[in-house]
Amino acid sequence: MTKIKSVYVCSACGARYPRWQGQCRECGEWNTISEVAVSENSAPNAGAKAAARALSGFAGAGGSGVTDLSLIDLEVKKRISSGFSEFDRVLGGGIVAGSVVLIGGNPGAGKSTLLLQTVCRLSESRKVLYVTGEESLQQVALRAARLKLPTARVRIAAETSIDNICTLAGSEQPAVLVVDSIQVMHVQGIESAPGSVSQVREGAAALTQFAKRTGIAVFMVGHVTKDGTLAGPKILEHCVDCSVILEAANDMRFRTLRCQKNRFGAVNEVGVFAMTDTGLKEVKNPSAIFLNRQQEVAPGSLAMVVWEGTRPLLVELQALVDSSAFGNPRRLSLGTDQNRLSMLLSVLHRHANFNLGDQDVFINVVGGVKVEETSSDVPLCLALISSYYSKAVDRRTIAFGEIGLTGEIRPVPSGQERIYEAAKQGFNRAIVPYDNAPRHSPEGIEVIPVRRVTELFDLI
Ligand code: TYD
Ligand code: MG
Repeated sequence: MTKIKSVYVCSACGARYPRWQGQCRECGEWNTISEVAVSENSAPNAGAKAAARALSGFAGAGGSGVTDLSLIDLEVKKRISSGFSEFDRVLGGGIVAGSVVLIGGNPGAGKSTLLLQTVCRLSESRKVLYVTGEESLQQVALRAARLKLPTARVRIAAETSIDNICTLAGSEQPAVLVVDSIQVMHVQGIESAPGSVSQVREGAAALTQFAKRTGIAVFMVGHVTKDGTLAGPKILEHCVDCSVILEAANDMRFRTLRCQKNRFGAVNEVGVFAMTDTGLKEVKNPSAIFLNRQQEVAPGSLAMVVWEGTRPLLVELQALVDSSAFGNPRRLSLGTDQNRLSMLLSVLHRHANFNLGDQDVFINVVGGVKVEETSSDVPLCLALISSYYSKAVDRRTIAFGEIGLTGEIRPVPSGQERIYEAAKQGFNRAIVPYDNAPRHSPEGIEVIPVRRVTELFDLI
């Protein structure tokens, strides 16, 4: 008889303890530790150990022995195109054979739709297997029919056992396997419910091992919890090769696909899709939609160039400065960092004597884009000044640049490319950091270099 014993596992980081405790010593989270039953004959780290075995086999010649790095075969596996150039770019240039990709996102973000469309497009040139654990075969078939996808050569199974999936995929030998979703899958020999820490972790480890052994590319769907992290332990992100998140923008029409981890390419790549009644459509020129501005100019609005992964993106930034009715003025920023807004307000006060201490300040990046780099500092200050003095900025003016604590304007990476992109989109004036200004302005755009925040006031 197998003996059942239990361990206590942290749902945030996956750390294990022999008895319950309130706080996890590994990650410091409170109330994340819960009891998990394991049978004696399934070794605690079965999946992880199996994955380690698979990886050592993958290394080639010497098994687990020691070898020279220079002797390892550099044969680069050809990448498979997903049929979506935006998706390929996020993955670093296409799907790599034997790689494991985790697709995260809120319910309704379109993960199943994206993968179904990808699989159907791929099926025209390769073998694919779509395993659904959440929807019935009919539901998937109906959706594919409604989206008018080519389904003739798509193989599909409704299955929730990882062991069965590996057996099925082993006999089908597809180039790409989709598992929707990892949270409903279970692994034999693990007692806890599907979706629990140990099931998710062992399931992912088993699929990773399978992918490395067979060279089949595996896509796993993973759900996201309320605070935006992937449900299940962090270990899920450790064992996969790529982790991408599909996010819905504010107005729910656009979806951004963002890469968080990529062993085969750059991170922070962003792909943009539009959700239409015929499924997800690629948006090849995202600047055009995020910059869909009205003809008349309004104070407090300004276009800026941000850098997303490997390309520039033009978005509109809006600021509203309004006298506050209460003693404690509000500061709210949507799409940019709230702390950075407070910092910039202090810089403006201290170095340019621009006091917004009795004003409410609201910042919004149009289109639900999240700006995570510092090049939005200069446009943000310009928008604040423009809103405060009710003076509109010409609609063909664009800006970017970082602001330091001493009031200096600092250069940002890829300055030239940003200016060229702005010129291409029809802008004729660019306010840029002095060190980013090219010696000769590109055709059709006047470059205005700035060194200090005080100069921004003269421009408006
Ligand atoms: P789905 O792929 O089921 O989301 P997930 O698997 O991430 O939970 O997408 C469902 C959402 O997409 C749903 O809210 C409806 C919308 N949708 C469309 O607007 N058009 C379509 O053609 C499809 C298939 C879905
Ligand atoms: Mg789904």
